[in-house]
Amino acid sequence: MNKRFATAIGMTAMLASMQLAPAGTAGGAETDVPELPGITSPDPYPEGCVSCHKGPLLLKTMLAALKHRNIDAKVAVIPNDCKTCHSEEGGMDPMSNVAHSMHYASGSKSDFVTRYNGSCLNCHQVATGNGEVTMKSGKRNW
Ligand code: HEC
Ligand code: HEC
Ligand code: HEC
Repeated sequence: MNKRFATAIGMTAMLASMQLAPAGTAGGAETDVPELPGITSPDPYPEGCVSCHKGPLLLKTMLAALKHRNIDAKVAVIPNDCKTCHSEEGGMDPMSNVAHSMHYASGSKSDFVTRYNGSCLNCHQVATGNGEVTMKSGKRNW
C-alpha cells in the first residue's frame, strides 16, 4: 500500500476526531459544525507558526527566554529550517515532538489550548479534495 497515502488518511481521521471530540455530539446530532480553520471557517493562521507568533509571542523572544542559541543565520523558513537541527539526522528529537510538547504538554493549562482552540489545524493543513495533510510554513518574521 502507498505509505504516504495511508499516512494522510490516518492523520486526517485523527485530526477530525480530535476536533470533533469537544463539540460533544455524543447523541449523534449533526447540527453543531465544529470549528476547523481552513475547512469550516476562515484560517486566521495560514502560515502556521509565524502567523500566530507575532508581537509578544514573537518566536525570537520566546526562544531567547528558553535560552536558545541564536539561529538568525540558520533559519529562513519556519518550521522547515528548525529541522536542520531538530531531527534525527541533526541528532535531536524531531521537530514534531518539540512542537507538540511545547503546545500540549501542559494540557488544559496551555494558552495554546485555551486561547487558540488547541487546533491541530493551526499548524497543519488538510486539503479538502484529496485529504492530503501538509505543514503550514512561513518566512522568519524578525
Ligand atoms: C542550529 C541548530 C538549531 C536550530 C536551527 C534550531 N534549534 Fe532549537 N535547539 C537547538 C539545541 C542544540 C537545543 C538544546 C538546547 C541547547 O543546547 O541550546 C535546542 C532546544 C530547543 C527547544 C527547547 C526544548 C527542547 O525540546 O529541546 C525548543 C523549544 C527549540 N529548540 C525550538 C526551536 C525552533 C522553533 C527552531 C526554529 C525556529 C529551532 N529550535 C531551531 C538547536 C537548534
Ligand atoms: C495559533 C497560535 C500558535 C501557533 C500556530 C503556534 N504557536 Fe507556538 N505557542 C503559542 C502559544 C499561545 C504559546 C504559549 C503556550 C503556553 O504558554 O501555554 C506557544 C509557545 C511556543 C513556544 C515556547 C514554549 C515555552 O515553553 O516557552 C515555542 C518554542 C513555540 N510555541 C513554537 C512554535 C512553532 C515552532 C510553531 C509552528 C510549528 C508554533 N509555535 C505554532 C501559539 C501558537
Ligand atoms: C504548534 C504546531 C503544531 C500543532 C498544533 C500540531 N502539530 Fe503535528 N506536527 C507539527 C510539526 C512541526 C510536525 C513535524 C513536521 C515535519 O517534520 O515536517 C508535526 C508532525 C505531525 C505528525 C507526523 C508524524 C510525526 O509525529 O512526525 C502527525 C501525525 C501530527 N503532527 C499530528 C498532529 C495532531 C493530531 C495534532 C492535533 C492534536 C497536531 N499534530 C498538532 C506541528 C504541530
